[in-house]
Amino acid sequence: MKITVLTQFPEMFGPVLDSSILGRAKEKGLLKTELVNIRDYSVDKHRKTDDAPFGGGYGMVMTPQPAFDALKGCGAEGKRILYMSPRGRMLDKDLACELSKEEELFILCGHYEGVDQRIIDAWSMEEVSIGDYILTGGELASMVLIDCVARLIPGCLSDEDAAVSESIYSGLLEYDQYTKPREFRGLNVPDVLWGGNHRLIHLWQYENALRLTKKRRPDLFEEYVRSEKSLTKDEKKILDTVFSEY
Ligand code: ADE
Repeated sequence: MKITVLTQFPEMFGPVLDSSILGRAKEKGLLKTELVNIRDYSVDKHRKTDDAPFGGGYGMVMTPQPAFDALKGCGAEGKRILYMSPRGRMLDKDLACELSKEEELFILCGHYEGVDQRIIDAWSMEEVSIGDYILTGGELASMVLIDCVARLIPGCLSDEDAAVSESIYSGLLEYDQYTKPREFRGLNVPDVLWGGNHRLIHLWQYENALRLTKKRRPDLFEEYVRSEKSLTKDEKKILDTVFSEY
């Protein structure tokens, strides 16, 4: 998959795109990223890319010229182009999954008060939000989007990670995790987790995930209860118990 990001601040991206799972995905050739500095396309002698909004108001708005020319220059014509904006469709697992199947994506990052509407309209951009809060620009939002989309590209995660996200636990919040030592300053790891009985460990994790989801995200819990899933007899019993509790 190739993702081209158009931004006035390309220097913000380096460490995020080159580290950890994204870095590995790039090394493996599963993900390619290109950063386009919109400022490079400005015909203004000061390389200006924004101006005051018509109608008044605070902040600055990205002008059409550098954005149009940058989009044309990087081959975005006819392609799927996202514009990161708090007005957009909320990014969730369905959208991430859909985007991960694209071969090519373009993302425009705005700053300050946003971009001239003609950029969004003329390039048929899809506005995408990462949450009901306002960031100072689209850069961080686009990195969040790239991160969660890239990990869904087949081959990006290890088999083990991929198996976990496709398992019975999907749709639930993750169960509590523990590591060594078994006892730390009087704080103990639940006995079952170091007992070596994989069936009991799995059932503990399932119950823990169910309880946590029911308490913190009743909306997800309800959706999970209603969803199609194949459960063993033991899993079904745990689900019924947790479901019927207050
Ligand atoms: N730009 C500013 N705030 C944003 C948000 N919440 N989501 C996406 N892009 C943004």
